[in-house]
Amino acid sequence: MELFESLKEKIDGKNIKIVFPEALDQRILGAAVRLKAEKLLVPILIGNDVEVKQSAKEHGFDLSGIEIIDPKTYDAFDEMVNSFVERRKGKATEEKARELLLDENYFGTMLVYMDKADGLVSGAVHSTGDTVRPALQIIKTRPGVSRTSGAFIMLRGRGQEKYLFSDCAINVNPNAQELAEIAVESAKTAKMFGIEPKVALLSFSSKGSASSPEVDKVAEATKIAQELAPQFDFDGELQFDAAFVKTVAEQKVPGSKVAGEATVFVFPELQSGNIGYKIAQRFGGFEAVGPILQGLNKPVSDLSRGSVEEDVYKTAVITANQAIMEDE
Ligand SMILES: CC(C)(COP(=O)(O)OP(=O)(O)OC[C@H]1O[C@@H](n2cnc3c(N)ncnc32)[C@H](O)[C@@H]1OP(=O)(O)O)[C@@H](O)C(=O)NCCC(=O)NCCS
Repeated sequence: MELFESLKEKIDGKNIKIVFPEALDQRILGAAVRLKAEKLLVPILIGNDVEVKQSAKEHGFDLSGIEIIDPKTYDAFDEMVNSFVERRKGKATEEKARELLLDENYFGTMLVYMDKADGLVSGAVHSTGDTVRPALQIIKTRPGVSRTSGAFIMLRGRGQEKYLFSDCAINVNPNAQELAEIAVESAKTAKMFGIEPKVALLSFSSKGSASSPEVDKVAEATKIAQELAPQFDFDGELQFDAAFVKTVAEQKVPGSKVAGEATVFVFPELQSGNIGYKIAQRFGGFEAVGPILQGLNKPVSDLSRGSVEEDVYKTAVITANQAIMEDE
């Protein structure tokens, strides 16, 4: 079954609540209405009731049955303020909390934190920083994970070719420990989405063929990752061809459990990760699904501002899947 068909089946009728803070946007409204009509999830829109309904009317959408919450009139706002101040432990005064929680991303993220919703999808209008920062501050990473990171599922040919690339979205220059955690979280995400993880930590060197501090970092991260998660196979540092092409692997790294058949590709820092997934997408014809933020206590997804309605729809389906898979 195609990836999205199976992901939709998993959430069908489960009434998973997903918050959409950017409720005035046509792409968000279109996706929310479709997701509700198909009973895939329960959308919660954030914004002023009159303005959201006006925007829906202008774009020809019927919002009946969809909940709209306005931070300005939310009846549990005081409870939310207290919970935020408590969570930020001295980093925000009550006054600051009242101001921040009028922002739709902070407000929406608090709904998720307070278990009034299961996940959040934003970023069609906001930058990555504005979308992700509330999640980092409020929802935070799971125990044992110091950095959240962004993975892409790369699909080609009706999903026959399915790989995971990370971190392509968040950490500008992770150190060895952080890179190791990214590799471990990537293995878990891959498994969650039906990819048997064989994790390659990428470099411009394969097993000592070149030497530099950048290469040493990747080699060290590989060791740490293997210690952190012995249940998965990691190898590094590996060049992309050694990781992906069997004949090259046999020449460059004979005996590796990963080289030549890697399914999860971990980039050494954000520039190569972000460039790498875009090359696979634009030259290679892969569909890039994500970024899927990994390692958070509850799922929050950051859309690209170039997203179309279909991207919002698919991202919400993934986010809802993360919500149930993380509970399992
Ligand atoms: C994600 C990002 C926005 C966070 O930036 P920031 O707000 O400047 O982060 P700060 O250093 O001020 O930290 C804010 C909080 O988030 C936490 N945090 C920051 N990065 C984190 C990460 N990767 N994982 C987990 N927590 C993180 C900090 O510990 C801090 O928590 P605290 O306030 O409770 O102490 C930043 O790393 C970034 O801009 N990354 C690049 C994103 C990008 O441009 N991607 C392009 C392609 S999509």
